[in-house]
Amino acid sequence: MATSAQKEGPRDMYRRLGYGKLTSGESLELAAVDAPDPDWTGRLRLFLRHKGDPYAGHIERALDQPLDDLRTHFYVGCVDGEPITHVMVAGARGFGVLGHVYTVPEWRRRGAFGQLMATQMEDVRALGFTRLTLSTGYGSMPYEVYSSFGFRSAVPESGQMCWFAEPGSEPAAAPAPAGDTSIRRARWDDWGALCFVLAHAPHAGEPAPRSSALGIDECGSAEGSFLRLLGQLDLAGAQSYVAESSAGGVVGWCHLVPSPLTLGGAWLLDLHVLPGFEGLLGDLLGRVDWPQRPVVFPTSADADVYESAMTAVGFTKSAVLPAGDHGGSTRRLTLWWRTG
Ligand SMILES: CC(C)(COP(=O)(O)OP(=O)(O)OC[C@H]1O[C@@H](n2cnc3c(N)ncnc32)[C@H](O)[C@@H]1OP(=O)(O)O)[C@@H](O)C(=O)NCCC(=O)NCCS
Repeated sequence: MATSAQKEGPRDMYRRLGYGKLTSGESLELAAVDAPDPDWTGRLRLFLRHKGDPYAGHIERALDQPLDDLRTHFYVGCVDGEPITHVMVAGARGFGVLGHVYTVPEWRRRGAFGQLMATQMEDVRALGFTRLTLSTGYGSMPYEVYSSFGFRSAVPESGQMCWFAEPGSEPAAAPAPAGDTSIRRARWDDWGALCFVLAHAPHAGEPAPRSSALGIDECGSAEGSFLRLLGQLDLAGAQSYVAESSAGGVVGWCHLVPSPLTLGGAWLLDLHVLPGFEGLLGDLLGRVDWPQRPVVFPTSADADVYESAMTAVGFTKSAVLPAGDHGGSTRRLTLWWRTG
């Protein structure tokens, strides 16, 4: 298989990356479609029509227009000019999400996806991606395929998998606060970095839930929930801020969205920082334009770290709930409440 990049210049959105051969003899053209690419919009829309919300919304928009600094690469393997296999990598600042892995049923088991993924992995390295995350079923056939390309479970026996360009650079400890951290509105290009931080187990001392707005108690996939959150930001009053470290990672966030529980019209606050970045809590809360309605914030009862920042913006501790057994220790949740 020829995989050497035959790049056609920076302005080309369709980059032919090489050729492979199916076990049934057909030639497989391997390429990246760098979105947005009007020439490929129709074909990719059709090829990925099985993807439902919230992914369909991202695919549609990425094909149509630039999404701030998010780079979306649709890798395709084509027979006679028609795509038969596909994988997408989207991300920024070195962090990427890998997804939408699919081979047309009648072309399966002929080596199409394996050859496409080999080419795609080589390309994402060249593009500067250093960390990728994906979601699959633990121990499934695709899990084995991803393992063969260096992906590993983010936590034991998890279908959340990560890949590091530098093996051994797994985050054993929280990133050290170094250099400037910027707080700004969440953007499309935070997708990869947020998925990466939430795929991994919490560091010692991190309160839980780590992200109630994204549906993550300790760790898990934020792939879909972050896209849903971006969609919610069209609602008047919904807000989302992230703290970006000097290395491009996301080290804190503050989202204010409608609560999935009906709590007297209260909205949900999701506030979190990695250990060492507690000094950002006040700045994150300071960005929020507080609504004329109640706001609830659930967090570990023993998370004293929130005390002064929360009271400074008008929250009180209104309930402590027993949240059950977690790994042998009983957890309790505090509900912080702010009246509108
Ligand atoms: C997963 C999928 C993309 C594989 O595509 P493909 O073009 O058939 O894959 P390949 O022929 O290149 O096979 C890749 C590897 O997977 C193995 N494989 C493929 N299908 C398999 C199956 N049904 N059972 C066991 N192994 C299988 C192959 O033996 C090969 O391993 P090898 O490199 O060690 O020989 C395809 O089955 C598919 O589209 N499935 C439905 C969508 C899906 O599950 N996507 C993944 C979501 S996480």
